[in-house]
Amino acid sequence: MRQPMVAGNWKMNGSSSSVKELIAGIKDGMASVTKAEVVVCPPAVYIPRVSGAVEDTAIKVGSQNVCDQDKGAFTGEISGEMLKDVGCEYAIVGHSERRSLYGESDELVAKRFAAARRNGIKPIFCIGETLQEREQGITNDVCSRQIDAVIALEGVEALADGVIAYEPVWAIGTGKTASPEQAQEVHAFIRGKIAALNADVAEGLRILYGGSMNPANAAELISQADIDGGLIGGASLKAEDFLAICSAAE
Ligand code: PGA
Repeated sequence: MRQPMVAGNWKMNGSSSSVKELIAGIKDGMASVTKAEVVVCPPAVYIPRVSGAVEDTAIKVGSQNVCDQDKGAFTGEISGEMLKDVGCEYAIVGHSERRSLYGESDELVAKRFAAARRNGIKPIFCIGETLQEREQGITNDVCSRQIDAVIALEGVEALADGVIAYEPVWAIGTGKTASPEQAQEVHAFIRGKIAALNADVAEGLRILYGGSMNPANAAELISQADIDGGLIGGASLKAEDFLAICSAAE
């Protein structure tokens, strides 16, 4: 049995006071979350504060990215060792906003995945197609290509050290969710592709769905056979909504 996971990607939102309030709200509701693994990914500058606040809880902390390099002249980047040092257990890599707005290639994402791993951080590896790619009927090819970059660099076994988040780009922040059937179809494809290389890795691998998941649609999405949780953007900024999704995952 794969443990369900719900991860909140706060993106570039919040302030010292709102972050304090949000994490306190999530902590307050955690008693009702017994099965799901809960992760929050605050903006980097707030990670130490959040790590401190969740120390005595089951809530885990992740970063929104990680540098592919470990140290030195890489202005603006944050290394895996630093993230580990301030309490990160997870790191998002390859989010579509990084790929599309900051030009991160499949190869760079794979290197960031590798950097997380070698620093003992579990990657939350994001993949997904744009609307144009879906309309062209190449959704599976795009996901395949993105996964292959990691497999080429790190081997298929490396996937066991993290989770995959399938996030159709057209569903992110748009209020337009993939239907449970649409999402399940891609999740099953991803698991099948990995199973062809290593059945054990595929069986154990958690594949999260991301893209406008909210308290109203979470249960149906997560009840699909190959959907093991969610990566939540907008709805993770309200403790009540985020907790409702965590409960739905159970
Ligand atoms: P959304 O974002 O839930 O706001 O669509 C998801 C994500 O980008 O990870």
